[in-house]
Amino acid sequence: QANERESLYLVSEFANTYFKKILHKTDQGKSIGLSYFKERGFTQETIEKFDLGYSLDEWQAFTDKALKQGYNIDFLQKTGLTIVKEDKRFDRFKGRVMFPIKSMSGRVLGFGGRILTNDKKAAKYVNSPESDIYHKSNVLYGIYHAKQGIAKEDNCYLVEGYTDVIQFHQAGVKNVVSSSGTALTSEQIRLINRLTKNITVLFDGDAAGMRASLRGIDLILEQGMNVKVCTFPEGEDPDSFAKQNTLEELTLYLNENAKDFIQFKASILFEETKNDPIKKAETVRDIVNSISKIPDRIKKEIYIQECARIMDISEEVLFSTLAQINKKEF
Ligand code: CTP
Ligand code: MN
Ligand code: MN
Ligand code: MN
Ligand code: MN
Repeated sequence: QANERESLYLVSEFANTYFKKILHKTDQGKSIGLSYFKERGFTQETIEKFDLGYSLDEWQAFTDKALKQGYNIDFLQKTGLTIVKEDKRFDRFKGRVMFPIKSMSGRVLGFGGRILTNDKKAAKYVNSPESDIYHKSNVLYGIYHAKQGIAKEDNCYLVEGYTDVIQFHQAGVKNVVSSSGTALTSEQIRLINRLTKNITVLFDGDAAGMRASLRGIDLILEQGMNVKVCTFPEGEDPDSFAKQNTLEELTLYLNENAKDFIQFKASILFEETKNDPIKKAETVRDIVNSISKIPDRIKKEIYIQECARIMDISEEVLFSTLAQINKKEF
C-alpha cells in the first residue's frame, strides 16, 4: 500500500513538472496559458512560486507522454489524470491552466484546472478526484506556502478560491489558505489549528455563498478557535480586491472590516428577521446553537450577553435556550 501511494505521488509530481514545462516552453502554453495568467495580473515570480502550469488542448498529449516515460496507466487512472473509457484514454485537464494542490510538506496531491473561455456550459474548474493520496476534506490549498506566515501572524485567512490565495501572496499577505469550493471540514480546521487559534473567513462579495458558509463556521468554534469574518464589496472577491488595491489599502480593509463571527451572524440574521416573530425565534435558536459550540464557558457567557443586546432579547431567554440545546445534545 505504501508503495502504491508512493507511485501516485510520483506520477503527480511528474504531471506537475510536465504542465509547468508546457506552460513555459511550448508555443501553445505561452500564447494561451501564460498569457491567461499574465492577464490576470500574476507575475512570473508568482507563476513559478505556485508551480502553475498548462495542459495542452489535445485529447491525450499528457497521457501519451506519461506512458512513454514509463508511468503505469493504473496510477494515471487512480490519480484521475487520465480518464479511461473502454479502450480510450483522455487527459482529464485538456486545455486548462493548472493549479497543483500540495500537502503541508509540499508534495503534489492533485490539481485544479481552469478553463480559459467563459463557456457557461463547461465547468469553470475541474479538480482531481479523491484518491489514496488526495482526500479533499483533509487538504487546504496553499497550506504549504502559508504555514510560516500563519504561525508568524498568528492568524489564518480562509478564502474561497485558488486565485484568492495566489493574489494575496503576490500582494504580500501570506497567511492565507482556501478550502477550494468544498464545504469546510473539521479536518481542514485541524490543520490550521496546529498553527494558530485565529481564523478570519473572507467571503466573496456575493450573498449566495455566504449563507451556506455560515454553518461550516460553527465547526471552527467547536475547536475552541476564534473566528472573524470579513465580506467584500458586491461583485468583488479577495483576488479582485487585492489586485485593485495597494498592500496598505488591503490590510487596512481587512483590519477594519473583520468582525467577530458571532456578532456578525447575530446582526445580519437579526436585521433580516427582526420584524417577524417566528423567524426571529429561529434566528435566536440558530445563534445560540453557534454559541453552544464554544467549549469555553466564560466566552459562552460573554457571547450570550452580547447577543442579547444585539438581538434585543433578554439574557435569561438566551441562557434557557442554551440549556435546552445542551440537553438535546447529551
Ligand atoms: N470551484 C470548483 N469548481 C467550480 C467552481 C468553483 O472547484 N466549477 C472551486 C474552485 O476551487 C474555486 C472556488 O471554488 O477557486 C471558488 O469559486 P469561484 O469564486 O467561483 O471561483 P474563483 O476562485 O473566484 O475563480 P476565478 O476568479 O478564476 O473565476
Ligand atoms: Mn486513504
Ligand atoms: Mn464565489
Ligand atoms: Mn471567487
Ligand atoms: Mn475570482
